[in-house]
Amino acid sequence: MKKRTIILLLTAVLGVLAFQTKAVIEGIGKVGEYQVGSTLYELFLPDEPYIYNDIDIPDYYFANPDSWNVASVFPINTGGSVPNPVAPVLTEYPSLPQDNDMVTLGRVLFYDKNLSANQSTSCASCHSQSLGFADNKAKSKGFLDGDTRRNAPNIADIPLTIHWRGILWDRRATELEAMVELPVQDEVEMGMDFDDLVVRLDNLGYYDELFQKAYGSSTITQDRITHAVADFMRVLMPLNTKLDQGIASNFANFTPQEIQGRQIFMSDCWHCHTAVPTVTGETDVMDFTKMIASMSYPQNNGLSLDHSSDQGVASWTNAPTDVGRFSAPSLKNIELTAPYMHDGSMATLEAVVEFYSKEIKPDPNSTFSPDNMYGSSLPIPFTGFDYTVEEKAALVAFLRTLTDPSFITDQRLSDPFVATEHSTGVLQNDPTLIDNIYPNPMVERATIQFQNRSRELTHLRVYSLSGSLVTVGATVENQYTLERNNLPPGQYLVSVEQANRQAVHKLIVP
Ligand code: HEC
Ligand code: HEC
Repeated sequence: MKKRTIILLLTAVLGVLAFQTKAVIEGIGKVGEYQVGSTLYELFLPDEPYIYNDIDIPDYYFANPDSWNVASVFPINTGGSVPNPVAPVLTEYPSLPQDNDMVTLGRVLFYDKNLSANQSTSCASCHSQSLGFADNKAKSKGFLDGDTRRNAPNIADIPLTIHWRGILWDRRATELEAMVELPVQDEVEMGMDFDDLVVRLDNLGYYDELFQKAYGSSTITQDRITHAVADFMRVLMPLNTKLDQGIASNFANFTPQEIQGRQIFMSDCWHCHTAVPTVTGETDVMDFTKMIASMSYPQNNGLSLDHSSDQGVASWTNAPTDVGRFSAPSLKNIELTAPYMHDGSMATLEAVVEFYSKEIKPDPNSTFSPDNMYGSSLPIPFTGFDYTVEEKAALVAFLRTLTDPSFITDQRLSDPFVATEHSTGVLQNDPTLIDNIYPNPMVERATIQFQNRSRELTHLRVYSLSGSLVTVGATVENQYTLERNNLPPGQYLVSVEQANRQAVHKLIVP
């Protein structure tokens, strides 16, 4: 497609999303498309791949690899040095992707609805960038509109947290590539079979070059698919939060309320949600030397006494003490990922804080129960930290410092497909829409002129006589120039579609 057309299309379609800078648009080209029902999905990628291999994990994530000076980070709570729970993971596992073409392929797959049986659902349907790569429903809708078993968590920070807390609410996955197979094949989520998927992706055409660039050959395999998607998830690192800036600046950027909230968090929450820097799941509470050993144990936070619908970790370990244990995802961007908990039962951060203040249930398996190391230091029965109104507001304010605004608008992580409705069925045939096509037979190019006083977005589609779509374009001008480029000699049908009108003319390519 011509560059001018692309610019117009992007301006018209994406302009509303405040998506683009001029420089970026000029380097983006259409590389493929697919159509489902009346919706056309056009794939746009930058001419040069975006840079993903420059992720700069700040020094404080690596500070003191052997002994992490907690006093500097948690001044009210602990003194002295304790082992850094994060650094050992990081020195072993900064396996951040180095190949920009691989991540590009992963991005396209992540957003491609062809990964679901009926082309209705992509990974992003339940892990949306604008929602911090989570969903805003308690249970998400799968490809046949069925409800998922649990709330869709955010999927950020995985390279930092995977060895720490595993993956999934019940931690039943530890390897990201293998985990990607689960949603694709899940009967509720995407319902797809990998053998069929390989054939389907092959037929789409646009994957040839993407696999070629990423793997040096265009062969599509299950392993290649899962690895590329996993690599895309490995670059989802929200490192530009107010908290991160605060650590770097000794919290000069924090309001007094946020400072108060951080102190409460460091006192009551960070044992399970490692406070800084990754703000993740569980640690053993009382014994810092056990922090790393306890990674494999998600916690039971006394959310509910009824585990009949979801046993948590026990659903695969069958251990009675694992009933009700869950592994919370990273709390980065938590402000954006409501509703909360594995069952999506809490609608707001205020509700979460209210729960920890007053509503913790006396589950014997709970980390807060008297039999537990944490519980032994708490009043019996423990129903919550009993916060004042001011303390609750401060905790919420602190949780909001975990949002990374640049992460949810980062174009490199955004949907590369542009969807447009193409409702041929209800279009009225109006031959007067097209004024002229010349020269016809075309020479190097042909110009199609049509009516368009009010600069409406007008779609052009060129079909072969056998009915297959050959090329598409869109413009808000009153003409469109078609390049001969890849059109083999033959007869074609040019369809011009504007609002609910359509006109079709024949074009001859000699
Ligand atoms: C229909 C909704 C839906 C779709 C589609 C979907 N997911 Fe999920 N995702 C979920 C739910 C629900 C969970 C939680 C499942 C659980 O823990 O039992 C989840 C969990 C995850 C997790 C674990 C996050 C964590 O920190 O524990 C990752 C990673 C993930 N999904 C990636 C993907 C990828 C990649 C795709 C596409 C191949 C995908 N998901 C498609 C709903 C969905
Ligand atoms: C005993 C360990 C523990 C403590 C202490 C703890 N949490 Fe949690 N937290 C968890 C677990 C486990 C989950 C997931 C529970 C579930 O879904 O069943 C969770 C879930 C959450 C979630 C929802 C995450 C999401 O993505 O849906 C938020 C927010 C949260 N906790 C905040 C806090 C705050 C604030 C505090 C301090 C007041 C705190 N937690 C103290 C263990 C703990």
